[in-house]
Amino acid sequence: MTGHYEVYLEYKKKIDDILFNLIQKDRPETLYGPLKYLLSSGGKRIRPMMVMFSCEAAGADPDLSVNAAVAIELLHNFTLVHDDIMDNADTRRNLETIHKKWNDNVAILTGDHLIGLAYQFLFRTESVRLKEIGEAFTEGIIEVCEGQSFDKEYETRKSVSPEEYIMMINKKTAKMLETSAVIGALSGNADRDLLNNLRYFAFYTGLAFQIQDDLLDITADESEFGKKIGGDILERKKTYLLIKASETVKNESDRMIIEQLISDENILIDNGMILQIKKIYSENGVIDSAKAEIENYTNKADEFLRNIPDSGSRERLKWFSGMLMDRKF
Ligand code: IPE
Ligand code: IPE
Ligand code: MG
Ligand code: MG
Ligand code: MG
Repeated sequence: MTGHYEVYLEYKKKIDDILFNLIQKDRPETLYGPLKYLLSSGGKRIRPMMVMFSCEAAGADPDLSVNAAVAIELLHNFTLVHDDIMDNADTRRNLETIHKKWNDNVAILTGDHLIGLAYQFLFRTESVRLKEIGEAFTEGIIEVCEGQSFDKEYETRKSVSPEEYIMMINKKTAKMLETSAVIGALSGNADRDLLNNLRYFAFYTGLAFQIQDDLLDITADESEFGKKIGGDILERKKTYLLIKASETVKNESDRMIIEQLISDENILIDNGMILQIKKIYSENGVIDSAKAEIENYTNKADEFLRNIPDSGSRERLKWFSGMLMDRKF
């Protein structure tokens, strides 16, 4: 029997092969150069996996969803390129980001181009439910833009509640996972109950995924993570950790540092400060609380899986959310 990880690798290879072969053109160089650079830079491909596993869970051949899966990965890569401009990020997937290696204009256009390519692939999907697929995909884009907007607004807000944080990550991250499951389920022509159970499974997995990303931003190994450690602190992101710390840290000097980070735009943040904040998080149970929250949402996701028929693909989805929870990058 083939294990879940082997199936993941097999499907991932299909996606990677399509992405690598996507572009045969070379010119204009400042359009196709960065595109090739980006699409061959790696990535976990978790959204296309969510598409294909969901299609399979609907009892259909996962290959029916491969074009939609490529589409969602292209869309995701668009969000990354623009996100890195917005977050002033210099590295991703252990490489220089596009706006850093080229410039902002090149990165903006790379993103725009990816949306076009994404729709090109999406509409190659052979399905009686293509209209619903198109609607879900478009709704996903709109919601990510809203989420990214809240994320940026929160940087300069003095206080963000846990509920506001969840609303923001719902839009910027969970929705894209949800959309992946929905278009996969639609490609497999799932009935309404099955589709909704897959939807909520992916949605809660997505909330866990973003809290884990916030956690890895401070706890991961930089070369494994592929992004700068402490990037969220440098950008004064209202992450799960910072919001939790502002609620729980009691010690006077630690509180001062957390409050400064929240409200003093002029403090200098260096690697020493990032390490100090990591220590505060860890000594005040903030890291443990993030881990517990990730587990909570993963369990919540699994509750929805239990509503779908027992099958190898249901087991695969369960393995998938567990694997994401334990990831190091
Ligand atoms: C990064 O997504 C953006 C977030 C929503 C946290 P991934 O962690 O899936 O990035 P890649 O595609 O694997 O590089
Ligand atoms: C990810 O948020 C949201 C999107 C890319 C839409 P982050 O800003 O935390 O993602 P990373 O950490 O840069 O990958
Ligand atoms: Mg961001
Ligand atoms: Mg970012
Ligand atoms: Mg992040």
